[in-house]
Amino acid sequence: MKRMVVIGTGSALPERVLSNEDLAKMVDTSDEWITSRTGIKTRHISGKGEETSKLAAAASRKALEMAGLAPADLDMIIVGTMTSEMSMPACACLVQKELGAVNSFAFDLNAACSGFIYSLDLAEKYIRADADLKILVIGAETLSTRLNWQDRNTCVLFGDGAGACVVTGNDENRGMLASKLFSDGSLYKLLYMDSAPSMNRELKRDGNDGSYIKMAGKDVFKHAVRCMDMAICDVLEQARVSADQVKLIIPHQANIRILKSLVDRLKFPLENFYINVNKYGNTSAASIPIALDEANRKGLLQADDLLLLCAFGGGFTWGAILIRW
Ligand code: UT7
Repeated sequence: MKRMVVIGTGSALPERVLSNEDLAKMVDTSDEWITSRTGIKTRHISGKGEETSKLAAAASRKALEMAGLAPADLDMIIVGTMTSEMSMPACACLVQKELGAVNSFAFDLNAACSGFIYSLDLAEKYIRADADLKILVIGAETLSTRLNWQDRNTCVLFGDGAGACVVTGNDENRGMLASKLFSDGSLYKLLYMDSAPSMNRELKRDGNDGSYIKMAGKDVFKHAVRCMDMAICDVLEQARVSADQVKLIIPHQANIRILKSLVDRLKFPLENFYINVNKYGNTSAASIPIALDEANRKGLLQADDLLLLCAFGGGFTWGAILIRW
């Protein structure tokens, strides 16, 4: 069976960097609080010309270059996002236009912070049907446009950016070995971002303005650890692989304390986790592909290494994917 392999990665970040010290001038917070509670030091904030689709296209150009492909070689574009600059058309269509990917069809997928791994899982299903397909899978967000900058509970946590992968089928024994996705919509009120202006009667009744990210941080924290632990154990079992065989784990980058709790539960060494939340904050669906591109360009992944991706986000949505690189 031909498996889905990653043949190119890329990432893009807005130019402007916002530090914890900058934030301390905007809301009642401190570098000490943010660093000790989250591990975040800086995050990138988008400006004009750095809309979600523009960041996504910039990341995609790098991924295509690495793959040795032209935009017209692409058959399909999926963007995992919940912060496209437009409700219609899809961000993926704007990316298609930006790249000139004239032979592809394009659509968005919203699974919040799990958007990239959901998209990658979907791409794999297409490639199983036709291994020659060349698919661009992107995670891109500009959450800074959807934050209440007066709310210290949320505005210190997030950042903007995009990451992209080009995937196709391969004859070898490499590629995606296992994946497991989950959702639990019954818990959505613990982490949500309504459309602006709110059309959700239920939320309006509760007196929420709805248009910014709202989060019950402590509850989300507990669910994130439990759910990612569950998803990781599931994919390892599915692929009959033991934890010590995994070379690199790229988790969704939300909070260093979540990752440390995950390490304690899984008994994986922390050194096997790729962590860059300190530089970028939580970039939602973009966090895994940005980290994957960084790890790839640093040469941390060699052929046949086992790579584990795992995410957790609003919905709730969560899951894990195991890849033989
Ligand atoms: O992608 C998945 C989505 N989200 C996440 O993964 C986030 C999961 N949750 C978390 O990471 C943590 O719950 C937070 C980092 C959001 C918060 O950490 P915490 O240890 O759970 O703090 P807390 O919410 O219990 O707040 C403790 C105190 C509160 O003050 P009081 O009520 O004890 O006086 C907050 O008002 O810290 C206060 N606080 C702040 N203080 C300074 C909340 N935000 C800040 C802030 N600066 N930015």
